[in-house]
Amino acid sequence: MYKAYPMAEDLIRIEGDKSTIYGGFIPQLKALVGDEKDTVANLANVAAALKETFGFFWVGFYLVKEGELVLGPFQGPVACTRIQRGKGVCGAAWEKAETLIVDDVDAFPGHIACSSLSKSEIVVPLIQKGEVIGVLDVDSDQLANFDETDAHQLNNLCQWLVSVIV
Ligand code: SME
Repeated sequence: MYKAYPMAEDLIRIEGDKSTIYGGFIPQLKALVGDEKDTVANLANVAAALKETFGFFWVGFYLVKEGELVLGPFQGPVACTRIQRGKGVCGAAWEKAETLIVDDVDAFPGHIACSSLSKSEIVVPLIQKGEVIGVLDVDSDQLANFDETDAHQLNNLCQWLVSVIV
């Protein structure tokens, strides 16, 4: 059906380099979330919006539950359900409480391969009052697809997200 105006839920993709795309994306994401407080709803829309805008292979959240990371809202192929602290890229980012960029997942000791198509990855911790409550995991089917721009932008996004969902 033809729509003369985008709905509030439509994302307008800004053309340009990565910083420009993030610059157009973040305000739209904040508008999309609005004053919604529900954690699942917001994590689901953030995952969908990131995947739709950047075409990443897999975007999703793992949340700390009873001492493990448990799969949360995501977009992409099915993924492993639970990850132990210190295991894989996600478990390492949790343990270190820092963002990890992996240019080649096959070169990362202990990488957990949910799909052989995933080539590079960035994992950003969700930190609430100094404690990691989960991670944002983004996978690409291209090698070395993530850099400091992604780390900076996704960290800001996660900080904002934590402030919205709690
Ligand atoms: N590769 C991750 C596991 C999660 S999947 O990529 C969705 C890791 O090594 O922690």
